[in-house]
Amino acid sequence: MVKARKYVVKTHFVGIPKRDDFELVEYELPPIKDGEFLVKAEWISVDPYMRAYNAFTPVPYDQFGFQIGLVQESKNSKYPVGSRVVSHKGWCDYAILSNSQEATEITYKMPDLKGLPMELAIGTVGMTGATAYFGFLEICKPKAGETVVVTGAAGAVGSIVGQIAKIKGCRVIGFAGSDAKVDWLEKELGFDKAINYKTENIDEALKAAAPKGVDCYFDNVGGGISTTIMSQMNKFGRISVCGSISAYNDDPKSMPKAVVVQPSMVFKELKMEGFLVSRWAKPENRWPEAFAEIAKWIMTGQLKTKSHITEGFDKIYDAFIGMLAGDNTGKAVVKI
Ligand SMILES: NC(=O)c1ccc[n+]([C@@H]2O[C@H](COP(=O)([O-])OP(=O)(O)OC[C@H]3O[C@@H](n4cnc5c(N)ncnc54)[C@H](OP(=O)(O)O)[C@@H]3O)[C@@H](O)[C@H]2O)c1
Repeated sequence: MVKARKYVVKTHFVGIPKRDDFELVEYELPPIKDGEFLVKAEWISVDPYMRAYNAFTPVPYDQFGFQIGLVQESKNSKYPVGSRVVSHKGWCDYAILSNSQEATEITYKMPDLKGLPMELAIGTVGMTGATAYFGFLEICKPKAGETVVVTGAAGAVGSIVGQIAKIKGCRVIGFAGSDAKVDWLEKELGFDKAINYKTENIDEALKAAAPKGVDCYFDNVGGGISTTIMSQMNKFGRISVCGSISAYNDDPKSMPKAVVVQPSMVFKELKMEGFLVSRWAKPENRWPEAFAEIAKWIMTGQLKTKSHITEGFDKIYDAFIGMLAGDNTGKAVVKI
């Protein structure tokens, strides 16, 4: 019998999620049956959507999310002992999986990372990379020479979007929450300009950085900063709405009812589209296309990737809260 641990979310979060909103539950896993395999988690992801989905997920629920697991026992020839699996089993240290997860929850053999760090399979060469790749290229349809703005630019998705935009020949401006992040974006990732949204006047700084206006906006944060960026867009600009982390901890009832984006939308004839990355996973799974392209860019030095690593199963909550507060540069992951 294997003793497993998992984080169960007991309540709907109010404001910043509290440690007491979670319960660490210990339980015994049954022996595996035909077709099943047992994985031991090695890396677990913490992501903003775990905060966003809480409001409409019935409680209690097991905390979901991507993890990399090592197969320890198997009665499934596709997943032999010693192979690695990316699954959506979330914040648990052991789990029993089977082929049925492939259909319902996105489970797949870890791609061959050709010597790249393993944790990238739940980051730049995982769901995060697919989000940046498809969400930017398919919705913004950037052209060389255009000006691209990305918010949450030093985070997991944003840092990849900005670098893909550079690879596609665009001029890239990123917004991030500290001077250290601004330095990283400009000096290491090759952003043309990065702006600290906490200390600078967003409107003036963007006008100076993009005097000819903005063609594509990849929106990770929502809120007032997005309204300002949209007011500086060029005619026929494209906006990819990926997330709105600036409001995830806010009470939806206390949010302003009207956001004044309509004048920009109408007079600039903008196109704005929200997406979920699962769109490119089902029914046809195109994620491997993104993984192959991104891995190639990393190996040729065109795309840099950074992991913000927290160690220990007991520290997942702290890693999650730290990521929501902006402690991470690059992808926040937990090594188990
Ligand atoms: N649509 C999809 O399918 C999909 C898939 C994956 C992710 N997403 C979304 O993409 C966005 C980025 O996700 P990620 O995984 O890459 O996370 P991330 O950017 O690595 O981490 C979250 C970052 O958000 C920033 N942040 C926190 N509070 C903020 C605020 N009030 N205003 C502006 N920025 C704030 C922090 O950076 P600073 O220090 O810069 O503030 C923090 O590091 C999120 O909105 C997420 O929900 C969407």
